[in-house]
Amino acid sequence: MAYKHLLVPIDGSDIGFKAIEQAADLAKQYNAKMTILFVIPKGGEFVDLFNIKTVTKAFEEEAKKFFEKARKITTEKNISPSFRIAEGKPYEKIIEVAKLLGCDLIIMGSHGRGSIEKFFIGSCTERVLKEAPCPVLVVRD
Ligand SMILES: Nc1ncnc2c1ncn2[C@@H]1O[C@H](COP(=O)(O)OP(=O)(O)OP(=O)(O)O)[C@@H](O)[C@H]1O
Ligand SMILES: [Mg+2]
Repeated sequence: MAYKHLLVPIDGSDIGFKAIEQAADLAKQYNAKMTILFVIPKGGEFVDLFNIKTVTKAFEEEAKKFFEKARKITTEKNISPSFRIAEGKPYEKIIEVAKLLGCDLIIMGSHGRGSIEKFFIGSCTERVLKEAPCPVLVVRD
């Protein structure tokens, strides 16, 4: 089994960058493509009242920083991933993008930035595990 296209959704947490490191190693091993995705959260737990342009702009600025950090990690491993921003419910977008790009492995963190309880896995990861069109590798901290 050789993976051809890895999807790495990140939310800016340390564990996401750890996932990028592991994904880059796998991308090298399988000579696979790699896409890094950040979802600007909209709907669901986020009240739509906050969905004003300035907030979106702020998220975009954040995403840029996350992507720069991600690029540093992948460049060191001689991998050049694609970067993508989507807007919506993170788990829905992760699944949508995985289907759209035909990704055959999703590599994500067990937790993200919103984590309080370390025992359970994060809600986004849980939903992706339930609905993903492909295998999911969950990176723990
Ligand atoms: N906005 C996002 N964009 C891209 N990936 C995300 C996003 N949010 C979460 N993820 C992915 O899901 C992983 C786990 O995050 P998740 O949101 O499930 O946990 P949490 O933030 O600790 O808990 P919760 O959000 O349920 O309070 C992250 O490491 C990342 O891979
Ligand atoms: Mg979260």
